[in-house]
Amino acid sequence: MTDAADHQASNDYQGPDRVFSGVQPTGSLHLGNYLGALKKFARLQHDHDCLFCIVDLHAITMPVDRAKLADQTRHIAAAFLAAGVDPNKAGVYAQSAVPAHAELAWYFNCVARMGWVQRMTQFKDKSGKNAEAASVGLFTYPVLQAADILAFKATHVPVGEDQKQHLELSRDIAAKFNRDFGEPAGAPNFFPLPEPLIQGLNGNRAGARIMSLRDGTKKMSKSDPSDASRINLTDDADMIARKIRKAKTDTGEMPVTVEAMEGRPEIANLVGIYAALADIPDQVVLDRHQGSQFGPFKTALAEVAVEALRPVSDLMRRYLSDPDELDRIMARSADAAREISEPVMADVRHIIGFHGSRAS
Ligand code: TYM
Repeated sequence: MTDAADHQASNDYQGPDRVFSGVQPTGSLHLGNYLGALKKFARLQHDHDCLFCIVDLHAITMPVDRAKLADQTRHIAAAFLAAGVDPNKAGVYAQSAVPAHAELAWYFNCVARMGWVQRMTQFKDKSGKNAEAASVGLFTYPVLQAADILAFKATHVPVGEDQKQHLELSRDIAAKFNRDFGEPAGAPNFFPLPEPLIQGLNGNRAGARIMSLRDGTKKMSKSDPSDASRINLTDDADMIARKIRKAKTDTGEMPVTVEAMEGRPEIANLVGIYAALADIPDQVVLDRHQGSQFGPFKTALAEVAVEALRPVSDLMRRYLSDPDELDRIMARSADAAREISEPVMADVRHIIGFHGSRAS
């Protein structure tokens, strides 16, 4: 076996299914985060053990405002709950409260190969022209992400499409750990190879990749300098309607079939957003708006967006008005997360062969 990242389809991991995902406490959340991640979280909690983490260790890979970090962490916790995550069913906690993340990340830094990590496009995007000045943490960001998932032996990871490459790296790291520390230590299937859950909720691509409202070829992003490019979860109804009204379209007509949206990224994005918010396939959106102009379609989309997001932003505000309760919820979940990860870490230390380590 070479060091080349050979993505294995699956292994013979026998453990139970577990869902893990994380969101960074940097800037306010937008529609892409909601449809790519949060909305899926709420669905998954009903039939899976789930952990949803506010990844503050990842946040400090870029410069952060220290005075705001704790509040931004609460902001994401409130968004999880407002999107329907029930803290009695699923864990909601801050990454920094559970030491296994950082510990396993170190071990994985010694498993992952430079060449694998150098291929990650997010580092190139985020470090920009001056990669020399980027933090080492930004470079190893995806290794920490693998540790997040595998410290709990999570098998499924709901994320947007932009995280696909990081998930492939997580699988490669898990597979290499299993190989390197497998026989004779007896752990050839110690870690599962985690699967990304990227697909939209209704079977089509809707929700997997929400694009900028100003440029259908760029993803909707917290870091886009134009606020008009995204719908924030905290935008009020007027702001949402205004942004959708101003969203870029093209000079064509409303398409009739999904195939006709090919090569028309702005229209495909608006139709996809409608479909993901209303939980219907793209074709149903097109059928409903056949023969319509973009103006009335955008009005209808704004109504759907306001109706879907208003309860989320109202609930977020309500949760944020009681920060002590949020802190209690996160502390309880962190205790539970430590209980799950500690035996995994005891096994990992033993498998690696550290002096004084024990098998759980
Ligand atoms: P973050 O905070 O950048 O993004 C959080 C989630 O939102 C999704 N997302 C999108 N989905 C669809 N369309 C978009 N335009 C869009 N923009 C963002 C992201 O895919 C993500 O699911 N690296 C992760 C955080 C992380 C993590 C993990 C995730 C750290 N450890 C372990 C899963 C498992 C991230 O990008 O967060």
